[in-house]
Amino acid sequence: MIGERLVERTSRGLAQAVHDAVADGTLSEGMRLPPIRSLALQLGLSPSTVSAAWEQLSQARAIRTDGRRGTTIAPLRVIGPARYRRALERSASFALDLSTGVPDASLLPDLTDALRGLHHTWTPGNYLVRPVIDDLEEVLRRDWPYAPEGMTIVDGAMDALDQVSSLLLRPGGTVVVEHPSFPPLLDLLDALGVRTIGVDVDERGMLPGPLAAAMRSNPEAVFLQPRAQNPTGASMDPDRAEQLADVLRAGAAMVVEDDSAGAVSSWPPVSLARWLPERTVHVRSFSKSHGPDLRLAAVSGPEAVIGRLMERRLLGQGWTSWLLQTVLLDLLTSRAARAQVKRARYTYARRRESIVKELERLDIPVAAPDGLNLWLPVRDEPAALLHLATNGVGAAAGSPFATRQNHAPHLRVTVGLVTGDARPVAELLAQAARAAPWSGPR
Ligand SMILES: Cc1ncc(COP(=O)(O)O)c(C=O)c1O
Repeated sequence: MIGERLVERTSRGLAQAVHDAVADGTLSEGMRLPPIRSLALQLGLSPSTVSAAWEQLSQARAIRTDGRRGTTIAPLRVIGPARYRRALERSASFALDLSTGVPDASLLPDLTDALRGLHHTWTPGNYLVRPVIDDLEEVLRRDWPYAPEGMTIVDGAMDALDQVSSLLLRPGGTVVVEHPSFPPLLDLLDALGVRTIGVDVDERGMLPGPLAAAMRSNPEAVFLQPRAQNPTGASMDPDRAEQLADVLRAGAAMVVEDDSAGAVSSWPPVSLARWLPERTVHVRSFSKSHGPDLRLAAVSGPEAVIGRLMERRLLGQGWTSWLLQTVLLDLLTSRAARAQVKRARYTYARRRESIVKELERLDIPVAAPDGLNLWLPVRDEPAALLHLATNGVGAAAGSPFATRQNHAPHLRVTVGLVTGDARPVAELLAQAARAAPWSGPR
């Protein structure tokens, strides 16, 4: 039954055949797979090919091996944002919750006029409508960092990452991500059974040297955040983008860019697509700039990818509500809404800078180059969180953002939400940064 599904006679092909057999119910939880040698003989593959496939399936947690029972199909996992839950875990409500990463609701543009302008009842002529409203696409293209072949609208950046990853990646594959990285992306890649290699970032984003080293593992894709990287706040300038494109030029890896801060970033739009247009997918979310509940993001890329994404989506969501797209179009073109987004951008920058300045005064040098968050180095994460919590302040633990075991302890602090005096908040953060782990009674 595996043989019938074997399209490609490689370890990847065999792993895919097992996944397909599980997906269509032919193989189910607890069923035992034949021993490697006999399956290899049966399929005319080498034992090392079968063994490599088993390793990929085991990494994707699709099978498990226990000595006595042999190799069996693993129980279906509940797949969800496990890391993100850990990052945001809290048992108390805080007077000042800086754990969330969400925008300040009072800085989002008012929707009243945009909603009042919705005088049509949109009724699509059929269920194969063009997914993006022409006028919206035109406005977006004017402010896009390059001239893309294809563009569409989806239900937020996570939806885009989910759809693009499912199209581009297969279990057992390898991708490069930033270190540290956005926990739901790591959860998503985990769910797809893909191995991640973390590449360190500085204030300008991924470092070209470590990226070049990571590319020796032949990853299928490189995921990066061009602006206001969550959690570090790094934003690329065109020089860094070009250096990264130079590193990637020789290979075949796709680049997937997640510009989640969009218009509240203090930096201009930037994309590696300027140099690698045929291999770059660029996503811009409107959650931080216009409101997370709009659930809107634009995604651009080569027609081969965007076309496939739109086609596949017709078997699911279909399209993103034209009503919401019309609201976004209004917000992107109305003078008042544009002024409000600009105000938000300046306000976040001022809040970041105030905290950074106060922390510097307290001998805690940190960078918060862009966006809503500050990546605060601390001596011990639990001790720092406890210190903040006992003073009514919430922050996110840094470890769920890590892509490797050995990582320096940090907290992600959404300083974009600090509306009042920065000084007392910075003082608490400085104490938290220095808080030592509790060593127990002596
Ligand atoms: C880096 C990153 N990607 C994606 C998202 C989610 O964006 P959306 O609300 O558009 O799904 C966020 C939200 O915090 C984010 O920080």
